[in-house]
Amino acid sequence: MSTAKLILDGKEYELPVIEGTEGEKAIDIRQLRSTTGAITLDSGFANTGACTSAITYIDGERGILRYRGYPIEQLAEQATFPEVAYLLIHGELPTMEQLAQFRRELTYHSMLHEDLKKFFEGYHPTAHPMAILSAMVAAMSTYYPDEADDMVNMVRLLAKVKTIAAYAYKKSIGQPFMYPRNDLSYCANFLYMMFAVPAEDYEPDPLMVSTLNTLLILHADHEQNCSTSTVRIVGSSMADLYQSVSAGICALSGPLHGGANQRVLEMLQQIHDDGGNLQKYIDLAKDKNSGFRLMGFGHRVYKNYDPRALILRKKADELLGKLGINDPLLELAKKLEERALSDEYFVERNLYPNVDFYSGILYRAMGIPVNMFTVMFAIGRLPGWLAHWKELREDPGFRIYRPRQVYTGPAERQFVPIERRG
Ligand code: SDX
Repeated sequence: MSTAKLILDGKEYELPVIEGTEGEKAIDIRQLRSTTGAITLDSGFANTGACTSAITYIDGERGILRYRGYPIEQLAEQATFPEVAYLLIHGELPTMEQLAQFRRELTYHSMLHEDLKKFFEGYHPTAHPMAILSAMVAAMSTYYPDEADDMVNMVRLLAKVKTIAAYAYKKSIGQPFMYPRNDLSYCANFLYMMFAVPAEDYEPDPLMVSTLNTLLILHADHEQNCSTSTVRIVGSSMADLYQSVSAGICALSGPLHGGANQRVLEMLQQIHDDGGNLQKYIDLAKDKNSGFRLMGFGHRVYKNYDPRALILRKKADELLGKLGINDPLLELAKKLEERALSDEYFVERNLYPNVDFYSGILYRAMGIPVNMFTVMFAIGRLPGWLAHWKELREDPGFRIYRPRQVYTGPAERQFVPIERRG
């Protein structure tokens, strides 16, 4: 066991160093306070490992992303989303029979309880679908309070999240909800519930189905990101699965995290409507006082290309080419990327396009509205949240997440009654 030496107040301490599968090193400070009386400080946890995990590996310097050891490029190209969901949750790729059974369960549980459907009558037509999604998932905990089998609840959530998302969209456009069909695959069923109407026959386009499969696979997990850490934190208090995931949905909605994909499209549209003046927005992004950031750019971990962005840029070219769509925002995005990556501000800070930079172009080409983009991210990320919640809860040594702090408020002082305070 290698160690790290710490000298504090003239005293020397040896701290164990643990090593991950890929040789990454961590100084184990689990006994730091009890042995030294000191804690560490790491705002934003950029240097802090919250746990050990066997689910996803990211190498930010080399732009590597693997789910349970499988490179994202191979999964995106060859797997289906249910297969990847199974892999993340169970740790191994399913056999033919395991996948068939998993698909049957995902199909069987796709319907929402008829009373849950009534919740949609109360939402305002302009309600953001992410707020609806988090509320509906939390409400699901009231429908299955006695379900002791976490796996059943995980399948229920995976199956119903796409139904809730489609219903939120139908609600926003005043169209009738379409019940899920048992003859359609996971992605085809979602597209059916989103775009079918009672008066017409609708069969999902296979190209859209395969594009959606890729999009959901690319979003399926990303180790200890903000929303996954939130699911772990809430789950560590022994809150139920639905409540934990609902909290993750709330965290994902933020524009610095999953909400970025909606902001990217809005930003590209703003630049386009403003005459396509790229340099103006590059300069704004570099100006700390502007409050403007290049959305879809930069990443806490990737200091090289986000491998997902590379795949999505290629997919966008393919899909729009096959559909004969000439989306000016795609060309604008590529020019913006090129301009930014030749600007020293971005180069010095290793700011590359992340997963959110091109995903919106694809969603838009599929007819999905901008305010549904982050909901699409949530549908994709759900298997990752479930896998991490399960990993946390199955860890015999897991403890409730409760970080410490460095207090910088007033020292002790005596209460002064109101009469004497003037
Ligand atoms: C996701 O964590 C995950 O894995 C997330 C995710 C996942 O799959 O779960 O990958 C999904 O959330 C992707 C990120 C989506 N968010 C955005 O695209 C929003 C724009 N990006 C930034 O806000 C930022 O890059 C973050 C939030 C992604 C990362 O923030 P950090 O790690 O806290 O980095 P930082 O804000 O400290 O930035 C470092 C420097 C700063 O400049 P200096 O103070 O050093 O001079 O880079 C600058 C920042 O000002 N910077 C940017 C920028 N991102 C960082 N400047 C302009 N435009 C940007 N987009």
